[in-house]
Amino acid sequence: MSSVSQGTDFHYIAIKELHPTFGAEISGVDFSKPVTKEVFAEILAAINKYGVCVFRNTGLDDAGHIAFAAQFGELDDVTPYIAGGRAHRLSDVRLFDVGNIDLDGGVFALDNVRREWNKGNGLFHVDSSFNPRRAGYSLLRAAELPPGGLGGETEFADSRSAFDDLESHLQDHLRVQNFIAAHSLWHSRKLASPSTFADVNPDEYPMGRHRLVQTHEGSGRETLYLAAHIHHIEGLEADVSTALVERLLAHATQARYVLRVGWENVGDLVLWDNTSVMHRAVGGEFEGRFRRDMRRATVHDGSLAAWGLNERSEIRQGLP
Ligand code: OGA
Ligand code: MN
Repeated sequence: MSSVSQGTDFHYIAIKELHPTFGAEISGVDFSKPVTKEVFAEILAAINKYGVCVFRNTGLDDAGHIAFAAQFGELDDVTPYIAGGRAHRLSDVRLFDVGNIDLDGGVFALDNVRREWNKGNGLFHVDSSFNPRRAGYSLLRAAELPPGGLGGETEFADSRSAFDDLESHLQDHLRVQNFIAAHSLWHSRKLASPSTFADVNPDEYPMGRHRLVQTHEGSGRETLYLAAHIHHIEGLEADVSTALVERLLAHATQARYVLRVGWENVGDLVLWDNTSVMHRAVGGEFEGRFRRDMRRATVHDGSLAAWGLNERSEIRQGLP
């Protein structure tokens, strides 16, 4: 029996485990009408336990996607990303436009600057840790997919198991120091595309402050709240901070903690918990050639750690 399969009974939904320590494909949910209380309670139990839940062929459209996401809590929106005047391609500001389609409906050309902006999604991260209130759950839906075999999968990394497996002296050190990490959207953009963001100094923008080691509220397990957005760890010299962040990220993203989810059909939806797993977009030959229209609804975290050590402000970061 795998290490995650004990302890929870499911009566309404069926679970197929996807990895020895996390991730599940869920079937038995009827998305043609609002998800009932009983079914929703089991989905919540599943996501708390597995961190990633894959739903195939949901048949959901934009409105149904938003309605399902709203059952998890208050939704974030893209207004910070369109504040500079760029139009939003999708029907609703509560859907983040994370695919590769331009406003004119064409695939991003290989030299489109938005490709450079999006490259940060190719680094393991969590959503919106740079904002005062972080994201809890994210729900990503395929609206149009490139042909199979050309890339475009999404990978997940199990941050709870990564913490469990650290040497105990390092676990104790991290618990005792109780480090605060400063997360910056601009830091991860620069990491992924140094030349595009050469003139941007992350220090000039707000950062989100969160504990590095946390207890995941949904499962009671300890976890590493890691992301490519981490610019520094407070109280450490820059080189020591960078070395620790790189070491922990390298540890937590080893192949044994990673689950690759392939997108099979339009309407596939993946739900993940940003407070227990990281994720990244996998590139491929489809880029610059085929449409990959991906839409994400993002639920503001409702846990006690949602705001980290941040002031409860409405100021959110966004790309122009
Ligand atoms: C996201 C994201 C990855 C992908 O939607 O938050 O990082 O594979 N997407 O598109
Ligand atoms: Mn993301």
